[in-house]
Amino acid sequence: MIEPDYNDIPLYNNVFWSLISESCHILLIAPSGAGKTMLLSFLGAMVLKRKHKLYLIDGKQTSFGATFRSVGIQTATTPSEIINMLSYLVKEMEKRYAEVFNSENTGLNTNFSDFSLPAHVLIFDEVLSALDSGSKQENAEMVRLLKQLALKGRMAGFVIVLTAQRILATDLPKSITEQCQTRLLMGANVSEELYHVTLGGYKKDLATGYRGGVGTGYAVTPKTGLTYFEAPYMDFSKINFKELLEKLVHKNNE
Ligand SMILES: Nc1ncnc2c1ncn2[C@@H]1O[C@H](COP(=O)(O)OP(=O)(O)OP(=O)(O)O)[C@@H](O)[C@H]1O
Ligand SMILES: [Mg+2]
Repeated sequence: MIEPDYNDIPLYNNVFWSLISESCHILLIAPSGAGKTMLLSFLGAMVLKRKHKLYLIDGKQTSFGATFRSVGIQTATTPSEIINMLSYLVKEMEKRYAEVFNSENTGLNTNFSDFSLPAHVLIFDEVLSALDSGSKQENAEMVRLLKQLALKGRMAGFVIVLTAQRILATDLPKSITEQCQTRLLMGANVSEELYHVTLGGYKKDLATGYRGGVGTGYAVTPKTGLTYFEAPYMDFSKINFKELLEKLVHKNNE
């Protein structure tokens, strides 16, 4: 069996993504065109490189989802596919808790890495579009399942990465967004309010002035607090991304 790699995934300077930390869940907020999907492509590739399991929801049905799907990564786009995928992940999570985490072998700080298990990482692009695309009932079911993963996923290695162009408590319950302790905000056209609800502070208090743009913005993590952030950039004119993914998937299946 291949051994997953639990080392931190470097993002920018002292900002890391750790699948085994309290801040494993990521919330990425950025207006259209600010680089959400590009950053998710990087994160998805890193999940595969570290030999964890990757699941994708592409709420806007773009080439992003299509590329990952074409190399064999499970990808959901329609409301029923999304609900199926979320249900599957919740079930797997419950199974892992029941089978692996029991009082005999589990302490306060035990997590899935202690059992050499892979993380199951769900990358969910454009959560609000996905919620809007379903009926009221489907919307409620997606929220209910996502809430389970957000609240209970961490120890068992069920990690979520969510993106949206805005966050309002009316669209996405606080119980979900509050579990995302890695917060990223990118883009030039970010209102004071969006900045505040995403990161907690105020744009006007930034000592150097606001520096958000395409692929740039700010991060908040428990370790770093608020810090300037630049997303890793992949130049797709030089990198054949599909080929890269194929190699990673192939390696994981060896
Ligand atoms: N980190 C980056 N550095 C430089 N350019 C970038 C970066 N990220 C994205 N871009 C450029 O910006 C364009 C838009 O990026 P992307 O599609 O990721 O944005 P998005 O937030 O997902 O937008 P949308 O709302 O359209 O889904 C990309 O085609 C790319 O050329
Ligand atoms: Mg996008």
